[in-house]
Amino acid sequence: MSGADVSVVQLEAYRNAPEAWTPPQLAVIVPSYNERDNVALLYEKVATALKDLPFEFIVVDDNSPDGTAEVVKQMAREHQNVRCIHRIGRRGLSSAVVEGISASAAPYFAVIDADLQHDEAILPQMLEKAIAGDHIVVGTRYSSGGQVGEGLSKTREAGSKLATRLSGLLTGKALSDPMSGFFLMPRSVFDEVAPALSSEGFKILLDIIVSAGRARARQGKDLRIGEVPYTFRPRHAGESKMSPLVVVQFLGLIVSKLTGGLLPTSFLLFGLVGGFGVIVHMGVLWLAHERANLDFVWAQTLAVVVAMTFNYIVNNELTYANKKLKGFRFWTGLLTFYAVCSIGALANVSVASWIYAFDGQFYVAGLLGVLMSVVFNYSVTRVFTWR
Ligand code: GDD
Ligand code: MN
Repeated sequence: MSGADVSVVQLEAYRNAPEAWTPPQLAVIVPSYNERDNVALLYEKVATALKDLPFEFIVVDDNSPDGTAEVVKQMAREHQNVRCIHRIGRRGLSSAVVEGISASAAPYFAVIDADLQHDEAILPQMLEKAIAGDHIVVGTRYSSGGQVGEGLSKTREAGSKLATRLSGLLTGKALSDPMSGFFLMPRSVFDEVAPALSSEGFKILLDIIVSAGRARARQGKDLRIGEVPYTFRPRHAGESKMSPLVVVQFLGLIVSKLTGGLLPTSFLLFGLVGGFGVIVHMGVLWLAHERANLDFVWAQTLAVVVAMTFNYIVNNELTYANKKLKGFRFWTGLLTFYAVCSIGALANVSVASWIYAFDGQFYVAGLLGVLMSVVFNYSVTRVFTWR
């Protein structure tokens, strides 16, 4: 018998074997970036906490340089309920979570960080609340029973409290921890709102609460949110990915949701960066013309190039941190960005002149021209630069 025949025979045997499988009741979704020394321990702890409950453990890893995905795939060879969604060329906590949830068919899912900061021991209690009818159950750090513990620095604690107030404005609900990355819900509730979610940023729970609240309000139904307190633990191994960038993206999400999702976070950030670009432009123009005595035409040209380059770099780092262009693609991206913005400037001038002809008020025409070029540059660079 040749080797190939053996595997055919084996496949046949597998096919005829009864399915030794119980469908999972709970999917545990774990976003991960550089968490290789945490994932296996988290799995053990979750398995202990859930006892006999059939669950699946789905790690969504953005091709971490430390090789987390390989560690998870090794775990998947040993446990039938472990899965790795290995995303290549993409970054982002919210989109990772959405993708993990969407990959499961279990009736309930929980989202938990990989670094052991969230207390997996409350998962059974969270599940009970969801089964009893809560639409979203949040593991909270601030309720009477829960504590922030050693997990957060003083500044982060203050920032987190401020963010909690801001989001209270948005959700209209007095939740103790809408910033939590730890929550559990029925998949059916998530499915209703999935298309409305922003895949950008860090704060997926807040987004789900706002979107689900609005969707249910439109149907005259209430959104029931349960809370289970726990003590936030210090991170096990590795480093936090929270950064000033994440904070700016969060503010973008708040404004975006206040506009009912009409303006995507990335558009607001793009506009904000454009505003700073104007400042850079004026600064360079002043330096070159007033200080270095360059001809106006040359000074203005230099200012345009510097401001465009500035806008490109900042948008690449901030607005499109999840699709950041690197290496060769950074340079081709810069060229397409220059090209699009040049056409955007033409669009700006023609719209402004057209409006000026009707209206005769220079600032109205000027502002609408600027708005025109922001909308134009934003939409077209999304097609040609940050695809
Ligand atoms: N796939 C993927 N892609 N995962 C990511 C990414 C990413 O770009 N960025 C972060 N993660 C994963 C981390 O590996 C970790 O498992 C989890 O998301 C949280 O990231 P941390 O870097 O540990 O964030 P944190 O501890 O500062 O903040 C977290 O906990 C807070 C309290 O619950 C976040 O979940 C916050 O949203 C939350 O408020
Ligand atoms: Mn963490």
